[in-house]
Amino acid sequence: MDKTSIHGMWSSRLMFILAATGSAVGLGNIWRFPYMTSDNGGGAFVLVYLGCILLVGLPILMAEILIGRHGRVSPINTLRGLARDSGTSRGWVAIGWVGIVAGILILSFYSVVAGWTLHYTFLYLKQLVGGAAITDPGATFSALLSDPLELTFWHALFMLLTVAVVALGVEKGLERAVRFLMPALFVLLLMLVVYGMTTGFMGQAAAFLFRPDWSVITGGTFLSAMGQAFFTLSLGMCTMMTYGAYLPREGVSIGRVGIAVALTDTSVALLAGLAIFPVVLSFGLDPAGGGPGLIFTSLPLAFESMPFGIVYGLLFFGLLSVAAWTSSISLLEPATAFLVEKFGIGHRKRAALTIAGLSWLLGLLSVLSLNLWSGVRILNRDIMSFIEFIANDLMLPLGGLLIALFAGWALNRTILREQLSDMPEALFTAWRWLMRVVAPALVLIVLVRAVV
Ligand code: PHE
Ligand code: NA
Repeated sequence: MDKTSIHGMWSSRLMFILAATGSAVGLGNIWRFPYMTSDNGGGAFVLVYLGCILLVGLPILMAEILIGRHGRVSPINTLRGLARDSGTSRGWVAIGWVGIVAGILILSFYSVVAGWTLHYTFLYLKQLVGGAAITDPGATFSALLSDPLELTFWHALFMLLTVAVVALGVEKGLERAVRFLMPALFVLLLMLVVYGMTTGFMGQAAAFLFRPDWSVITGGTFLSAMGQAFFTLSLGMCTMMTYGAYLPREGVSIGRVGIAVALTDTSVALLAGLAIFPVVLSFGLDPAGGGPGLIFTSLPLAFESMPFGIVYGLLFFGLLSVAAWTSSISLLEPATAFLVEKFGIGHRKRAALTIAGLSWLLGLLSVLSLNLWSGVRILNRDIMSFIEFIANDLMLPLGGLLIALFAGWALNRTILREQLSDMPEALFTAWRWLMRVVAPALVLIVLVRAVV
């Protein structure tokens, strides 16, 4: 006997993989991973990040999917039900609240950055019909950031696109967006990597990405790598739990889909690195300390000088906008599903609009922190970086830590085994100890080290 979700169900296993990959692959891989690598000294950061994905990210990804698939409702109500059924504390419901707050915070700046990519798509579209070339990418980027109205416009447009899909619901909205566009993005990245090879700087770029220089590592590096691992796999805020709630039971192995999603996400991030750093190096830029502007100030240099570069630029920023879109809908869905359960099934539109409106308003803080309020510092960060830090580096790992403990200690073995039925006994036992001890300990050490 298997329940279905009132919010709808993915029509197939493949649709779930596409949607979960659509959620995972986004600005985190192509915008954030390269610049975090750049700011944290290259190879050593990448190695720690890969360790976090393998030991913490992938196992928690499986935990989120299985909790969702067992519960079949929005995170808060799923946790409430599971806590009741297995006779444990209702305190676990806090995981759902951490998730909803983190989701609203992340969506607020995510939409602002996605707005930049929309703006760049538009710039290349204009170039294609005779508009001015981007001759000085640094100046073009600063001009965008210094204009609050322009930023607000694109932020609003992107948020509207996000609401539109989520308001339509699982089958009609979420599925349609991911079917063709994700594979296209993958192919385009491969083409940019090939271009990178022609620059003669691929070797140096690979060395920067993969040869660890441990001397640049600090406690903060570990926190950044852990935060990035959670962010990139959409973990710790119940997104994957929510997507798991719409996942059919028949013939779907949580272990396998988890690996597929984690592997795709990791390859896209590494490909993005291999596409971007050769360009950075070949134009004599410093691969270290690129900051959030990295892809916007480096890639346009390549697009202006390669054959058909304008078309590539248009495709790249267009597809990146779509990748961001399939992620932002997954940032909005958990809180929306919760409101739908509260106000009734007919209120999906209003629910999505309420949450998105709140996120949009919060996003104005990020917009202003790029210009009028750029002098404001909280804990040594501008407002946007501060929100990013609280949500990505603290709330997501904290949410993930609680999810691991919940799956490892609170849920009984029967429920776990029922959801992971195809997993060989030895692997299951290993996974369970990762949830009980290894993942929580690693996250805790990293969090504590960073705070004290
Ligand atoms: N994983 C997405 C990315 O890499 C961001 C995201 C985080 C989406 C958390 C949903 C939940 O861009
Ligand atoms: Na990602």
